[in-house]
Amino acid sequence: MVYPTAEAFAESVALRMVEQIKAFPTSVVGLSTGRTTGPIHAAFVRKVLEERVDCLRATFVGVDEVVNVDREYAGACYRMIRTEVLDPLHISDEQFLILPTRSDDWERTFASFNEKLRKKGGIDLLVLGLGENGHLGFNQPGTPFESCINISRMTEELEARIRQETQTPLDVQLAGATLGIMEIMHAKRILLVANGRRKADVVRQLLKGPITTDVPASILQLHPTCEFIFDAEAAEMLEHE
Ligand code: GLP
Repeated sequence: MVYPTAEAFAESVALRMVEQIKAFPTSVVGLSTGRTTGPIHAAFVRKVLEERVDCLRATFVGVDEVVNVDREYAGACYRMIRTEVLDPLHISDEQFLILPTRSDDWERTFASFNEKLRKKGGIDLLVLGLGENGHLGFNQPGTPFESCINISRMTEELEARIRQETQTPLDVQLAGATLGIMEIMHAKRILLVANGRRKADVVRQLLKGPITTDVPASILQLHPTCEFIFDAEAAEMLEHE
């Protein structure tokens, strides 16, 4: 689906989220952070409040998290999702499943996260952002498609920015904890969302190119119920064909 403007794009994704929760109030909704989803989250909150949609039985799941920073740091996914979605809707941490920023035992943390997700019945609707290099969550190019929840490297630029913003010393390793490609592919329904010209090339590769670990998002071609939702700029190279 291609929408003419970034606003129409954000509205349409928010509408799908609201419809999901209206139809199935106990839905498990996966959320991504970043520039793309910020306006989507704002539109979602506005619609929920306007239409008085009951979100108190829904569960929200974070796709990924920055590791080794304070979770209250403004760039941590916990804080972004809280500020953008959960705080305005008065949704408690009981209804929010996200990986922690720190753990002494990641294996155990991952097992417990997956167990909690399994008890909820898995993700019903996953709003999934797209990295400019085709990454999903923090699954960078080269990640095997069979990867499960894991700690993954960041791009150098993102690492440098977060290190500077959080004043993290060089001997503390920054990384991303992320749902793996496997957990992402197990979501019952996915909305892959991308807007802006800077995503146009990767959008073309992910839909028209081969399914390859060089472009992690290309695996979504095989997901049975993934909708690809773009604004006109992100879809620019598709329209040229
Ligand atoms: C980060 C996040 C991803 C997100 C992606 C896209 O790497 N870890 O979850 O989907 O960025 O971000 P943006 O929408 O800002 O381009």
